Amino acid sequence: MTAVLEISGLRKTYRSRKGVRKALDGFDMVVEAGQVHGFLGPNGSGKTTTLRTLLGLIKPNDGRMAILGREVPRLLPEVAGQVGAIVESPQFFGNFTAETTLSLLADAGGVNPHRVPAVLELVGLRDRSKERVKTYSLGMKQRLAVASALLKEPKLLILDEPANGLDPGGIREMRTLMRTLSESGMTVLLSSHILGEIQLICDSVTIIAAGRRVTSGSVSSVLATHASATVKVRLEPGVDLAGAAAVLRAAGAAVTLEKDHFTVGNASNPAQITKLLAEKQIYVAELTPVSADLEDVFLELTGTAPVDGANRQVDQVAATTTQGGWGQ
Ligand SMILES: Nc1ncnc2c1ncn2[C@@H]1O[C@H](COP(=O)(O)OP(=O)(O)O)[C@@H](O)[C@H]1O
Ligand SMILES: [Mg+2]
Repeated sequence: MTAVLEISGLRKTYRSRKGVRKALDGFDMVVEAGQVHGFLGPNGSGKTTTLRTLLGLIKPNDGRMAILGREVPRLLPEVAGQVGAIVESPQFFGNFTAETTLSLLADAGGVNPHRVPAVLELVGLRDRSKERVKTYSLGMKQRLAVASALLKEPKLLILDEPANGLDPGGIREMRTLMRTLSESGMTVLLSSHILGEIQLICDSVTIIAAGRRVTSGSVSSVLATHASATVKVRLEPGVDLAGAAAVLRAAGAAVTLEKDHFTVGNASNPAQITKLLAEKQIYVAELTPVSADLEDVFLELTGTAPVDGANRQVDQVAATTTQGGWGQ
């Protein structure tokens, strides 16, 4: 695979009268060709700063970046024609139709006017393209924004928080659109602070927290590396669940009691569960690992998992303590 985008050791410090803020603290990212790559991190973690830096909109303090093998920002003019990006939410003139808007943009960018109907078709706005933009829903405006970024047939499409403000239906449509683009050979980089539906469209992810990469790779490898050590335990019907839970708790297990089973959150050695219970003549009927999803990994790595009785502040990271293994 070839990298379409490479970032290494990126640093950006904002200075203002209020002081100095390290937005990027040696950030690294690699996006391979043909992928839909999710750039995930909580609010304020440095996603927009990274994308703006990449597009030459702000100057970094240190680090190296390359798009399609060309070092940026120095050689940005060489690759700018192959990169479509929506970083700030674009403002369109409400009295123009989508068709007029795109025609003007195509004209200004020296793009063949035949691209206009093509991108309108692609983003699903064909039938509404002769209506004024002010009559559009937020989701339709997002599509128009994507259409404008697609005019020059980019090899790399960069979207900053494309799911923002969309309802679940809108997010699903965005997801289908990203898939279509990816299947046509385009590389898509999209940032998000919410995982829900976004995780379903990504082939690979980079997770950022406090200006640093905390993990990256294919979705399956990220899940595998951070697989939870949680197991679900079911006993024979009629056996005292609470009693069994108490036995394990006494040995240090993090037990959560459910209606007809319980889970052990720190079971890095599940055999210990069967052993401890068997010693008390309690027999396990079912013991299954509970697989983590990307959201669990995200919350754990970015320190944004809720903590009882605490209101997490935006700059607070990794406030949660990772559970150590039990029963080793
Ligand atoms: N122009 C700016 N001046 C000062 N601080 C900024 C500026 N832009 C962003 N920041 C700060 O940099 C950090 C990263 O912000 P940002 O890149 O927008 O994060 P994200 O897009 O992940 O939400 C935040 O703490 C933010 O407040
Ligand atoms: Mg942002």
